[in-house]
Amino acid sequence: MTAETPETPLHVPVLLQEVLENLPVPAGGRVLDLTLGLGGHAQALLAGADATARYLGVDRDPQARERARLRLGSDARLTILAGTYEDVWDDPAFQAWVQLQAPEGLDAILMDLGVSSLQLKDPGRGFSFQAEGPLDMRMDPESGATALEWLGEQTDESLADALYGFGEERASRPIARAILRSLQAGTLRTTLDLAAAIYTVLPREIARRKKQIDPATRSFQAIRIAVNGELSRLAKAITTAVMALKPGGRLGVISFHSLEDRIAKQTLRRLAGIYDGPGRTAPDPLPRHLRLIHAGGLKASEAESAANPPSRSARLRIGERLAVNEPPSRNLR
Ligand SMILES: C[S@@+](CC[C@H](N)C(=O)[O-])C[C@H]1O[C@@H](n2cnc3c(N)ncnc32)[C@H](O)[C@@H]1O
Repeated sequence: MTAETPETPLHVPVLLQEVLENLPVPAGGRVLDLTLGLGGHAQALLAGADATARYLGVDRDPQARERARLRLGSDARLTILAGTYEDVWDDPAFQAWVQLQAPEGLDAILMDLGVSSLQLKDPGRGFSFQAEGPLDMRMDPESGATALEWLGEQTDESLADALYGFGEERASRPIARAILRSLQAGTLRTTLDLAAAIYTVLPREIARRKKQIDPATRSFQAIRIAVNGELSRLAKAITTAVMALKPGGRLGVISFHSLEDRIAKQTLRRLAGIYDGPGRTAPDPLPRHLRLIHAGGLKASEAESAANPPSRSARLRIGERLAVNEPPSRNLR
């Protein structure tokens, strides 16, 4: 593990001020953090909470949980659980915590999506095209197929679809062919081999000259999303989280790219009773479970963007749970 010091933290929590302002923890508040990571947001939210507050942090990555434990483990208000935000709801330990600590629902839930810089900066995890590492990319290294194993199951077509669908990569077809050709030739073993295959289609030098992002960025993002199934059940997880809030409780979702943000936006709007389908009005009245706070979401300030470049692409969307019997709406667009 890379060393973390107060001067060089491994992960700077993004939109921290916005999270603190929009997910207030009341006295005795109950908070669920579905992507605990290194506990950056958790530390700040706990600092503002009273002694009777309780905080449940969930993460699928054992290294992240270990880091969070080292950082915050002495805080008796915090419980840390292994799990994913899709499946943790069925975990008996999770259910027991909710039953005991938050039988009337949660005051705040946070989902800070994507990878942490701990994951990105550790070459051994295989997320980065900037350092040599195994083609792994699993957020939970104890389960599921590695990126290399996943690539081994792809056809030119399925890989191109993933590169386009999860990376918005316009050169998806030639890149998919180049990657699978390298795999068949036995030359695709590491992150740098994968990047090299991508650069045969989109040369890195040209992108550098034009000051564009590294041409491997979109394909690495796409393969990471596919390997971890990051988007497939996000809408369901957001819906489940909203239903776990008490009236007045709030969910905050931080996304880092347009695909995640689109799912967060569409799901929250639907739960707010806003009809986005064809025509002006919904065929059936839509139940309203929440109201949107800052309808367009919140982005990092200029100061934060300058100090922490990854925050530039982050967006925070917030919904507040309404009382259960709120009247349905036909069109709130
Ligand atoms: C951006 S980081 C969170 C950082 C955290 N808010 C902080 O301030 O330290 C995202 C974390 O979510 C975790 N993660 C990603 N997908 C997950 C999922 N489906 N379920 C649970 N955790 C997940 C990752 O392992 C990573 O640690």
